[in-house]
Amino acid sequence: RMPILEQCYNLMDFESVAKRVMKQTAWAYYSSGADDEITMRENHTAFHKIWFRPRVLIDVEKIDFSTTMLGTKVDMPFYVTATALGKLGHPEGEVVLTRAAKKHNVVQMIPTLASCSFDEIMDAAEGDQVQWLQLYVNKDREITKKIVQHAEKRGCKGLFITVDAPQLGRREKDMRTKFNDVGSNVQSGSQTDTSQGAARAISSFIDPGLSWKDIPWFRSITKMPIILKGVQRVEDVIRAVEVGVQGVVLSNHGGRQLDFARSGIEVLAEVMPVLRERGWDNRLEVFIDGGVRRATDIIKALCLGAKGVGIGRPFLYAMSAYGQPGVERAMQLLKDEMEMNMRLIGCSSIDQLNPSLVDTRALSMH
Ligand code: FNR
Repeated sequence: RMPILEQCYNLMDFESVAKRVMKQTAWAYYSSGADDEITMRENHTAFHKIWFRPRVLIDVEKIDFSTTMLGTKVDMPFYVTATALGKLGHPEGEVVLTRAAKKHNVVQMIPTLASCSFDEIMDAAEGDQVQWLQLYVNKDREITKKIVQHAEKRGCKGLFITVDAPQLGRREKDMRTKFNDVGSNVQSGSQTDTSQGAARAISSFIDPGLSWKDIPWFRSITKMPIILKGVQRVEDVIRAVEVGVQGVVLSNHGGRQLDFARSGIEVLAEVMPVLRERGWDNRLEVFIDGGVRRATDIIKALCLGAKGVGIGRPFLYAMSAYGQPGVERAMQLLKDEMEMNMRLIGCSSIDQLNPSLVDTRALSMH
């Protein structure tokens, strides 16, 4: 028998329900990683190499986990990251995530390849709900410019340019289920080849020629903060500071691109000490995503210096299995875990999290 929503006690529970109830093509698209899925697995297990050094006898009666990301105040240090094709999992698509995010004042990153139109997702947001745009850069820069400027006009608060996908990775699970149900407002307009899985079918417009020298052009067309999503080494973080972007997401695209890319948390542990040494840790905001399933994962990332963490698949699975109430419960579970674990490590607010609270000696770099 299928568990009822109240029987989901953590984010992994939604995954096992989703696997049972989702259409095979949808499950294959959401759950797949690149090649042997080693990076996808490592994304979560890398968190297992970090241990806490909690403080005791700190007053933790009241816990405040509000913080700021890119200058806006948010109630939680995690956000719903961009994941394409929401309608594969739920007939209403991404707006389900939007409404749940509103309930918990959590930021949503809107994917270029959303199933709902961009305006539908913006319209589903209420009041001052914070949304960001994830951008796949089109070979036709006029199209890209239109998308970016429209997003800014509609009130998007950040432009996340995906830089880890000059070509979409081989996700063989996805390729095996011949894909013919794109359910997307695909922006390419070109003929799509559905024999290679969903990912390949919708991505032919992405420009593999995108390079560092394009970044100033983005600066010239928008005032939104620009963040590079998918950075994987400290040298590129330094370069990002030098070209004047406002942030980076240390990410490997949920293990869907380069197999054997390191996890975001691992790269974070490499990046932050170098930034601190240069006195650059306030020059840009560093985010991570990939494999975040527990509040302890979030807390570890914040201790190491991340401003916030993105969560992808768990919210997709919660949405696919239970709709909006599922996503809301997933967020509530994380909130509850946050509150308890902040108490247990002896911190009553986000600004108290710092590197001395974690032991990273088991990470490969240290
Ligand atoms: C993604 N991701 C992604 N990233 C991006 O920049 N543009 C996109 O269109 C998508 N689409 C997408 C679809 C699906 C089904 C998944 C699972 C992921 C990557 C995403 O933003 C993020 O990096 C990872 O999902 C984070 O890992 P977890 O939380 O899924 O483990």
